[in-house]
Amino acid sequence: MASDLVRFTVAVPGELLDQFDQLVERRGITANRSEAVRDLIRERLVEGELAEPDAEVVGSITMVYDHHLPGVSQRLDEVQHEHLDVVISKMHVHLDHGACLETIAVRGASDEVHALADKLLGTKGVRHGRLVCVAAESGHAHR
Ligand code: NI
Repeated sequence: MASDLVRFTVAVPGELLDQFDQLVERRGITANRSEAVRDLIRERLVEGELAEPDAEVVGSITMVYDHHLPGVSQRLDEVQHEHLDVVISKMHVHLDHGACLETIAVRGASDEVHALADKLLGTKGVRHGRLVCVAAESGHAHR
């Protein structure tokens, strides 16, 4: 879909722009601010489409958690057993003495996938985490 480019001006704090420029730089020599902003907008729009509760989505939930915290591993397993119809598979990596990385492949109604991700990522002991998902029928996030 070709459309005319429209220029607009955005005011952001200098520090935030510095961080953004570093992000753009990491993407490589062909990347520039405009392309990076377009990507961010597209990502948000796709997320909006996926906000339809009945939309079928596929994706993954990745999280890093502190397995020394009492009960956290068990709790994360329990949550997944409560969503058997959404959880497809899981990869577990023992990162170091105290941390584990888990990536869970998911497929199902958008609202249930998001509910599962919210429960997992909100569990005490989970340090970082993110749900990445796309509409099941399109299979790709970028157009
Ligand atoms: Ni582990």
